[in-house]
Amino acid sequence: MATTHMAGATRFDEWLLNKRWRSSELTHVPEGSALKAVPGDGGIPLIGHSLTALRLGLDFGLKRYETYGPVSWMRAFGVNIVGVAGGDATQVVLTNKDKVFSQQGWTYFIGPFFKRGLMLLDFDEHMFHRRLMQQAFTRPRVTGYLEHVASVAASGVQAWQTGTFSVYPHMKQLTLDIAGRVFMASALGSEKDSLNKAFVSTVRAGTSMIRFGVPGGRWNAGLRGRRVLEDFFRRNVPAKRASDSNDLFSGLCHAQADSGEAFSDDDVVNHMIFLMMAAHDTSTITTTAAAYYLGKHPEWQDRVRAECMAAGPGPLDIDALEGLRDLELVIKESLRLVAPVPSLARKTVRDTEILGHFVPADTMISLGPWVNQMLPEYWSEPSHFDPERFSEDRREDKAHRYAWMPFGGGAHKCIGMHFGMLEVKTLLHQMVTRYRWSVPQDYKVRWDSTALPAPSDGLPVTLERL
Ligand code: HEM
Repeated sequence: MATTHMAGATRFDEWLLNKRWRSSELTHVPEGSALKAVPGDGGIPLIGHSLTALRLGLDFGLKRYETYGPVSWMRAFGVNIVGVAGGDATQVVLTNKDKVFSQQGWTYFIGPFFKRGLMLLDFDEHMFHRRLMQQAFTRPRVTGYLEHVASVAASGVQAWQTGTFSVYPHMKQLTLDIAGRVFMASALGSEKDSLNKAFVSTVRAGTSMIRFGVPGGRWNAGLRGRRVLEDFFRRNVPAKRASDSNDLFSGLCHAQADSGEAFSDDDVVNHMIFLMMAAHDTSTITTTAAAYYLGKHPEWQDRVRAECMAAGPGPLDIDALEGLRDLELVIKESLRLVAPVPSLARKTVRDTEILGHFVPADTMISLGPWVNQMLPEYWSEPSHFDPERFSEDRREDKAHRYAWMPFGGGAHKCIGMHFGMLEVKTLLHQMVTRYRWSVPQDYKVRWDSTALPAPSDGLPVTLERL
């Protein structure tokens, strides 16, 4: 009988985790086919596994893998979903050699708020947009963004109050301020507060449980937020096109293909809204998770502090940030233990197969990076915090191409991966060189899985100035 890894798990959680529903096959396999049906079960009548997946997150994914193997189906969020986990099955979907797995899986969840963002585009159109967007992520461009990150991070972290301190909400505010500067530098002006509000509503709606408009609900607030953002970006495109500055908005306005093609005004608006979302929560979660593990493991906090102190008080440039090796081990391990994007959505456009299982057209697929990152076949003592597993002489992440995949893989692999790592390093460098923090020895954070992972208590630490 599996037990949850979850802090504060209740008897109800244990029951949910261990309850065996009547298994069945997803669909009949076409006659004459040598393929197997996808095993699984629908779960609780009407709601399926929605509640279980949201409550138990990682534990639920691991349990499905243990029960059914790398390819299984369930009913959740109003649809049948084929869950794919383990390196080989993940590889089939992410390599996507027959272009059968589309991003329409994401459209189902976040389409109304993030339509035509890069992650929601498919195949040739996606490739065209991605190549253009790549120009906003060149080393010189990223160097410019990091100047904004460094100045906002330094003043933000410096202003923190010592004593009992909630890491997550402070980090969320700080990464939002950083996003405002990196993305739009000078364009924000007096609209800063209303834009922040619109942005927060849009992101919250994308991860809302109630997926239709009710008066006063998240969904409608998200649609209103989206309209405010669209209006703002559209009004500011002409000025951004007229002059080039070192923010991402300018980067998109000035990106040009060899053939001379560029993003239309609508493209710029859609990409900006998606990029803000893609960059914000993910870097908040990564930095918060690393702060948690550093609080739990003072020996690593001291080690990282020594390295960061040696690099100087900052602002650190791109080369200096890349040189922070111990900090990088800690961030990689934190990304393994808490995958900021715990599952990736896809949808089949034709009948296909995954590891010999027949998967019909129009099936939702959910990939499980977090599950892969906790499988004992790839990782020694997977639930232990052990940053050295990423060191050159161990490299456990090489056990499989998709053993460690917090940034996804294949054609849609995170375009902001390098910049995101450097942003997180900048924030943690500021934190360790100014403060020491700790959590009680028996404290175990509980990651709420109802949207992207977030500590359910905000992660309280005791913060002291050095
Ligand atoms: C630091 C933490 C970050 C994590 C863990 C992360 C994670 C991911 C993951 C897992 C995907 C793949 C989604 C899929 O395959 O369906 C992705 C895609 C993407 N990310 Fe990130 N991300 C991070 C930071 C950023 C930042 C800072 C930016 C931009 C400034 C960004 C922009 C994007 C974009 C545009 C895509 C879509 C790429 C495409 O479809 O071609 N991300 N990210």
